[in-house]
Amino acid sequence: MFMWGKKLNTRAKLVVLIVSAACFAAIWRFASCLSFEALEEPEMDKWTETWSKIKSCSCATCISDFNVFFMKRYNRTVNPFLTPLEDITKEEFKWWKTLQRENGDLKQFMEAKKRVFTTFPSKPYITGPRLDRCRTCAVVGNSGNLKGSKYGSQIDAHDIVIRMNKAMTTGYEEDVGTKTTHRVMYPESAIDLDNNTHLVLFPFKILDLQWITEAFTTGFRGQSYAPIIPKIKANKNLVMIVNPVFMKYVHTSWLFSVGRYPSTGFMTLVLAMHICDELKIFGFGADKNGNWNHYWEELKIKNLKTGVHSGRHEYDLIQKLAKLNKVTFLRGW
Ligand code: C5P
Repeated sequence: MFMWGKKLNTRAKLVVLIVSAACFAAIWRFASCLSFEALEEPEMDKWTETWSKIKSCSCATCISDFNVFFMKRYNRTVNPFLTPLEDITKEEFKWWKTLQRENGDLKQFMEAKKRVFTTFPSKPYITGPRLDRCRTCAVVGNSGNLKGSKYGSQIDAHDIVIRMNKAMTTGYEEDVGTKTTHRVMYPESAIDLDNNTHLVLFPFKILDLQWITEAFTTGFRGQSYAPIIPKIKANKNLVMIVNPVFMKYVHTSWLFSVGRYPSTGFMTLVLAMHICDELKIFGFGADKNGNWNHYWEELKIKNLKTGVHSGRHEYDLIQKLAKLNKVTFLRGW
């Protein structure tokens, strides 16, 4: 039998020690690569080049194709949408509570969540990428840089077109198109929808969950920092509620907690990366004069900035994703 110390001389012991150390270092290195955390840029590019040849969908470039920079941020296990079974930790709830100074507690949140699913479908249908399909998406932000862009027909050519808040298309068709398959909103930015458009609610407080339930049933009578429509016209079977845990994931994993919380538009982009295979981004960022205005408004306040959100940081990240071919970014000017 092998007996350490008796049968091996000092030299052999040394060799065994060195080999063991090398094996340990190799395993450690491999584990680090798997988490991608330890990789620096040149190394990231090497890994990306090797693995990105394996395709994950039938588009020319697929969001899910391997890329280390992307994988360091992207976490497919975080469900973008709230379901009755979705859990939230105390820490996640504490973060979410600060967004719009929520006073309610976790129990009240859970109760509001339970009530929501007595009215709306409990499992929005999400599937991962497949080799036999290419789901193309356009996310249309509300930036003034869309004015005069003539992107309309390009936007409408996508399978999924996601618009935001009160964004209108009538009168702006040539620049922004006409198709809307999904509209993201929160109570203060809500508008009526047609019967075929998905209503994607971003809840920022417990009141928002109460609103969506009551706006489709009894009518909402609560108050907020801005007027809220008490009733909404939309297809209740197409309502999807964004998971607060997903919102925190966007803030920490994607923005590394820069800015108080991500803009609705940026959270929508990450959401789109979870449900699409190919993504084109329109209407994000300042116009060519540096103003963060809306395409349908005359500019009243010069030098308009992005408030609690880090518009610049989000913009830089979009540009980085475009450089990596993960998304196509059309800035309008
Ligand atoms: O202004 P609003 O919040 O309705 O716009 C929707 C989203 O469009 C924002 O959350 C932001 O991400 C994006 N946006 C932008 N640049 C602008 C205006 C809006 O990137 N000038």
